[in-house]
Order: sequence, then C-alpha cells, then structure tokens
Amino acid sequence: MRRKIVAGNWKMNKTPAEAKVLAAEIANALGAAPCPVEVVVCPPYIDLPAVTETLAGTQIGVGAQNMHNEPKGAFTGEIAASMLQEIGVKYVILGHSERRTYFADTDATVNAKTKAALAAGFTPIVCVGETLEERESGKTETVVTTQIRGSLADLGADIAKVVVAYEPVWAIGTGKTATPAQAQEVHALIRKTLAEMAGEETAQSIRIQYGGSMKPENAAELMAQPDIDGGLIGGAALKADSFLAIVKAGC
Ligand code: 13P
Repeated sequence: MRRKIVAGNWKMNKTPAEAKVLAAEIANALGAAPCPVEVVVCPPYIDLPAVTETLAGTQIGVGAQNMHNEPKGAFTGEIAASMLQEIGVKYVILGHSERRTYFADTDATVNAKTKAALAAGFTPIVCVGETLEERESGKTETVVTTQIRGSLADLGADIAKVVVAYEPVWAIGTGKTATPAQAQEVHALIRKTLAEMAGEETAQSIRIQYGGSMKPENAAELMAQPDIDGGLIGGAALKADSFLAIVKAGC
C-alpha cells in the first residue's frame, strides 16, 4: 500500500515573513485534522530556514525546489545538499518543467542531482511531463518514458526512495487539468516503465504524484485513480485552505 504524498510547490512566491505565516496556517489547520497523507511544503530557498523552524515538531516535511549536484565549489547562485541538510530540509523537487524550460535542466543533470539528493538522504520529487505540442503530435509516451529512463538512470535500489511527479506542461498554471483518465493512463505508463527498470515489486512501491491545476474540486477524483498517489500543487498551495482541502481529499 503506497502512502499518498501531497506537496506544495510555492515556486517564486512568498517572502520569508509571508512564508512563515503560510506555514503556520497550514500546520495549525492540519494539526486539527490529522490524516495519513504525507504533507510537504517547498518554499523558495531564502524562506527555508523560517519554514523549517516554524514546522519543527509537526508532521509536515519541508523541501527545496532544486539543488546542485556538486557538494560545493565555484557555482555562483547555486545551493548544495549539505546546506539544505543543515537547516532540516528532507525533500527536493528536481527537473520541474520550469527548470527544464528556463534553466536548462536536462535528464542528465536531473539524474546527477537525483543521485546527489539520494546520497544526502533526501526524498527527491522528480518531475516529468509532455508539452501540448508533444501530446497533440502523439509523442506523450516517448517523451515521458525517455524522461523517466534518463532522469532515474542507474539509481540501483535507491530508485524505490524517489517520488515521481507527472506534470503535463499544458496543465501547469493554465487551469486545464488532465482528466482523471488521461492522468491515470500516463501514470500507468510510468509505473510500467519503472517496472522494466527496477522490477514489478519496486515499481509498485514508488509514489507517483499528479501535478497541473490540481485544486480542491478535482483532487479527490484524481487521487482515486489506481496509479495516482498524491499531488504536486502550485497555485492552490499558496493558500492554506485550498492546500488543506487537497490534502484532505487524499485522506
Ligand atoms: P499549478 O498547480 O499552479 O498548475 O502548478 C503545478 C506545478 O507546477 C507544481 O509543481
């Protein structure tokens, strides 16, 4: 039985003071209504100390939105795993489509970062997904399986520790959600690919989140699909009430 995982990707939103307020609101609301879903928030780097401090002692985990694969050195503007470790970060989103599109992340760099994240003891949340053009030209299967095979190559038994997020690019921030059937079809394809890479038993244990305009109104139906094990939430994660409503939809 896979434990559902709902993570909020705050993207480039919230100052440290605002982040502290939102984290406290989420913790207060969740504290009153415990549920078996694993809950994670991923604020911008600069907010991480305030948020890990605010959420210390709660059941809510904290993640970064990216990291570098090298342990330290001349990489201006980058952040290493040890820096995140020291402030209590336990998760890291890797290969988000915005990183792939605007910051040149590739399957190879995502793979290197995933290995470094696993070595640091983090749970990597590795994102894949096709663009609208790729979907309309019938390339979804090729694009997604190539991303999975490349981003998760050579992880050995550690592949079981990864969370995969399927985020169709055309559904991110557009209000256009994949239908539960569309999402389930790709989630099943991802699980089949994971089985080919790591065996059926391991594939059955790996959580696959859906992301892309997930909101309180559609979360329950999406998470009821057999291969959808939670959500990676953008816009709706920026307000405690909508984020909590999505968490509860998975309870
Ligand atoms: P939205 O929920 O705003 O569509 O964003 C999804 C996403 O990119 C989460 O990583």
